[in-house]
Amino acid sequence: MNLNNIKEVNFDNKKVLLRADFNVLLDESGNARDTYKLEAITKTVDYILSFSNVSLALISHRGRPSNKDDEEFSMKYLVDDLERILDLKVKFSPDCIGEEVSQVLDTVEDDEVVLLENVRFYKEEKKNDKDFAKKLAEPFDFYINDAFSVCHREHASIHAITQFLPSYAGIRLLEEVEVLTKAKKAQEHPAVAVIGGAKIETKLPLIEEFEKTYDKILVGGRISIEAQDQGIEFSNKVILPVDYAENKFDIGEKTIKEFVGYVKDAKTVVWNGPLGKFEEKPFDKGTVAMANALAQNTEVFSVVGGGESVQALNQTGNFDKISFVSTGGGAMLSFLSLGDMPGLEVLTK
Ligand code: 3PG
Repeated sequence: MNLNNIKEVNFDNKKVLLRADFNVLLDESGNARDTYKLEAITKTVDYILSFSNVSLALISHRGRPSNKDDEEFSMKYLVDDLERILDLKVKFSPDCIGEEVSQVLDTVEDDEVVLLENVRFYKEEKKNDKDFAKKLAEPFDFYINDAFSVCHREHASIHAITQFLPSYAGIRLLEEVEVLTKAKKAQEHPAVAVIGGAKIETKLPLIEEFEKTYDKILVGGRISIEAQDQGIEFSNKVILPVDYAENKFDIGEKTIKEFVGYVKDAKTVVWNGPLGKFEEKPFDKGTVAMANALAQNTEVFSVVGGGESVQALNQTGNFDKISFVSTGGGAMLSFLSLGDMPGLEVLTK
């Protein structure tokens, strides 16, 4: 995939809008519960700020607010986390369009960036509204998309905006595309895909894709029950659970042992989605066992994505032991099964 590359641009004296994915939950003290999505943009931010006299603004959605009154979804809660992670001063703009944005942009100094308010406070965002996209673009010279995890959404700040600004892929987005393109076809064997979560209809294309080059596809979580209830038939590469925990809220002990056995000896593993009701103990056992097994295999090329799988890696202290943790949940699924997404299509030459 030939994406417009941020490295082709000279940002001296330019105003740059960077689309990030800061769709994170907050903890009781009001800070981001997981910061890996915030950390994902650091290389791109550092690169842009290495030019002289650049004004950089960050834009993202958070949650699914219905309008501006859903104040709990404000971006202002991320200012402290971002200042710490980016090691920069973050100036908050209480709107993402209009005069306010231009005014804040005019005041940014060398070691500062602007954080714009939640783009989903406007219903036009999800409608991919052209006029809204034009307003988003107005104060800027360049648009950079570093939000791989939102590229499956045909929204104004991802899609329509590229009609109004020269548009490029950020460093993280390029990295996600490179690694996931590699993961789409099994590199080294044995290659094992682990797929969990819910909504079997959304995961079937992915299972079919992996069936082409992977040796085993381990299916757990809600989708394994849905598949069995619907009498869906798979090739013998697909391994369904042989037992479950109480109420089928998790895969059972025998299945855990079998799944872990495959992952232990694998050379390639891709994992998306929890294997049980991970958020409720003791039904996190299957997912935790998978996180540990993957981390203990030091020979494997491992790629993990999806909110709960990543949370499991964090909880078990295994995050750093994975070759690549994708920021994408739904986007990772879309990319692996379809190979393209609306947000990427508009960044190709
Ligand atoms: C994600 O968290 O997967 C992305 O930010 C997309 O969020 P959405 O599902 O609300 O569009």
